[in-house]
Amino acid sequence: MIEPAPFVERLGGYRERIRTMLERVLPPASRPPRRLHEAMRYAVLNGGKRIRAILVIATGEALHADAERIEPPACAVELIHAYSLVHDDLPSMDDDDLRRGVPTCHRAFGEATAILAGDALQALAFETLAGAPAPDAGELVRTLAQASGSHGMAGGQAIDLESVGRTLTLDQIESMHLRKTGALIRACVRLGALSAGARDAEVLARFDEYARCIGLAFQIRDDVLDVESETETLGKKQGADVDLGKPTYPAILGPETSMVHARALHERASERLAPFGHDADFLCALSEYVVTRTS
Ligand code: IPE
Ligand code: IPE
Ligand code: MG
Ligand code: MG
Ligand code: MG
Repeated sequence: MIEPAPFVERLGGYRERIRTMLERVLPPASRPPRRLHEAMRYAVLNGGKRIRAILVIATGEALHADAERIEPPACAVELIHAYSLVHDDLPSMDDDDLRRGVPTCHRAFGEATAILAGDALQALAFETLAGAPAPDAGELVRTLAQASGSHGMAGGQAIDLESVGRTLTLDQIESMHLRKTGALIRACVRLGALSAGARDAEVLARFDEYARCIGLAFQIRDDVLDVESETETLGKKQGADVDLGKPTYPAILGPETSMVHARALHERASERLAPFGHDADFLCALSEYVVTRTS
């Protein structure tokens, strides 16, 4: 059970710290090409729950990582995520006008600049990660590249687009979700663990299963919120999946049964981390947050 006050305070503290780090790695808007830099800053700094960067930091902290080691990967995953949202919202993809309560990047800056902002954010993510003070920065870069590429997020997005208007089986939706959203979330936890110097196969496997479960649960909750929440709370258009004919968990199972699945994934995620005792308390609370969040 989440103890609300300390959990919410800790989330807030992480979010502030992440914003400061991101401010530092993003090019200033005063430096040319200004419009591109403005669009990059807009896409990254206009809010967001920062769950991916928080996962990197909280996993690192659970395994006693040094702060300076976990900050570059935490920034990198948030930059990849922001780029993925800019491209996800484009007219050729989900064609959305609202993101984080404000116009989507292409609505604010035009489509060409939004595409370039996404490209540049992706490049900046890898530049940031390559600068991590880790003896095996190559392994960190490989982890993020695999999670972002055609076998991970980009591949999942391709399946999502191919599936519009089709009825997928639950297994096919699960596999799509594990790629488009789960792969990056899984990479966050692995990056946190590697940055802490974790190399024990059993430890890495437990964290990986935790991440696999919450990654899938995260997208199930996203699908359910699309049905049940409101545009104002979400900061993005409610009902967009139904309008576009997207295959989702609630489209197949209904929202209640979808949430039964999501909660079971949360339980499994928490069980996996039981051997780490109180060191894993925050990660377990984060897993509960993933399935109870309202935006
Ligand atoms: C939205 O992610 C896209 C999905 C993968 C479902 P988030 O819900 O984490 O978006 P922000 O960063 O908080 O805006
Ligand atoms: C997006 O999934 C997954 C990404 C890789 C960005 P959605 O299309 O469901 O995300 P939202 O609902 O627009 O945030
Ligand atoms: Mg999409
Ligand atoms: Mg979308
Ligand atoms: Mg969605």
